[in-house]
Parts: sequence; C-alpha cells; structure tokens
Amino acid sequence: MRRNPPFIAGNWKMHATLAEARTLISEIVKAAPGLSPARLVVIPPFTALCEASKLAQGSSVGIGGQNIYWEDKGAFTGEISAPMLKDAGCSYSVIGHSERRQFFGETDSGVNRKIRAALRHGLSPIVCVGESLEEREAGKTIARIKTQLDEGLREMTREDMGRIVLAYEPIWAIGTGRTATPGQAEEVHAFIRKDLEEKYGNPTAAYVIILYGGSVKPANAYALFKEKNIDGFLAGGASLEAGSFIQIAKEALRAYEEE
Ligand code: PGA
Repeated sequence: MRRNPPFIAGNWKMHATLAEARTLISEIVKAAPGLSPARLVVIPPFTALCEASKLAQGSSVGIGGQNIYWEDKGAFTGEISAPMLKDAGCSYSVIGHSERRQFFGETDSGVNRKIRAALRHGLSPIVCVGESLEEREAGKTIARIKTQLDEGLREMTREDMGRIVLAYEPIWAIGTGRTATPGQAEEVHAFIRKDLEEKYGNPTAAYVIILYGGSVKPANAYALFKEKNIDGFLAGGASLEAGSFIQIAKEALRAYEEE
C-alpha cells in the first residue's frame, strides 16, 4: 500500500520577475484546496521568496528555496543561509540539484553539510541525486546513486530521514524533454527505497518521500505516479505555468485515488 499522498514541487530555477511570481503563486494558492491531499511546494528564486510566502500564507502551499550555504552567517558574498530562508517563510530547501553540482562545483560532502544546516534550522531538505547520460550508458547508474546517498546522507538518523525528501533526477532528462520511462524511474526509486530500508529499516524507509524529476509534464505524470515507489515530482519547466503545474498534481491525484 502507498504511504504518501502526492508531493508536487515546482522548481522555478532562474525564472520569474516579482510580477510573474505573484501571478503564478496566486493561481496555485487558489487551486490548492481542490488538490487536497496533495502537498504542493513552490520553489521560486530568492528574490521572490518573501512575496511568495506572503501570498501563500494561510494556504496549504509550502515555499522552498533552491539552495543554501551551510554556515549560518558571515563573510560569504552571494550566499544565503538556512536561517535566512526560514526568515523568508520557507519550509524547504532544494539541496544538491544537478545544476548546482554541474555548474557550481557542489560535491556530496558539501551536500551533506547543507542538509545538516537545513535540519538544524527546521527546514526540510529536498535532496537531489541523479546520474549523467555517460554514467547511465556505462551501466553505472546505481553505483552513482549509491555514492550520492552514502556520502550525502552520511550519519543521518532515522529522525532526520523523517524530514528529508529525496528527488531522483537523471541529468539526461532535465530540461531535455526526454523523460525517464516509468520503468527506468521506478528501477532507481526502488533501489533508493531498498537502500534506505537497509540503513534505517521500516517503517522509516517506507515513509520517505522520493520524488522523480526530469521533464515531468501533465502527459507523463499519471504513468510515473502509478509506479509504486514514486511519491511525487520535482518539476522545472512545467512548473512555470500554473495550468501545467496544477495539471501535474491532478494527474498524480488521479493515479493516487485509483489505488
Ligand atoms: P525539468 O527540470 O522539469 O525542466 O526537466 C526538473 C528539475 O531540474 O528539477
């Protein structure tokens, strides 16, 4: 039996002016009551966080940041800390997105430090893992994911795992329109679940939310959510339009309610 209702997060990346953010978040907040029990989370750029939090206040829509630094404050020009995200009204932070790893040199040990910082300040980390196309073609997908989990989640306790959301995002599927097939995604999700089970046992492992990300859209959300170990989505491009983001939630809910 499935443990978690759909968890649908929209990663806006480096998109949205304040005016665009206001329109987008307002439409999502308006739709949220009709999408219960799905959990909706929007992840705007830092500049729109306060505004998004204000507009989401009193609704069930959660707000997340796209990244944090692991120190609380100090001389770290250009960085944002976990207490700052909390202060801006966030309950989540994405950590270790593949674009951060690829373009900004983030490592698994840095990811581990950021997860600790998030947990220390009451933010739920949304931790991303995923393989490159070369790794997949060389048959190294599972090994890559295993390393990211071992290093990234190093020394996390069962209690910590109750607050961590994981996102499997194959790099070759991000922003490419080339979604993993439900079977390809489920294979990795099932591996992640088994790895968590070995480390933390059940019921902890069964309740960890594991999202899929990489060219998720309304047309593929239903079939992906039908897979046993896929608890929801981290959508990028499709989250920039309220209509497609909401439709993704509806498709996941349709699959959820059929069970
Ligand atoms: P995409 O991005 O949906 O545009 O592929 C997903 C992500 O990077 O989180």
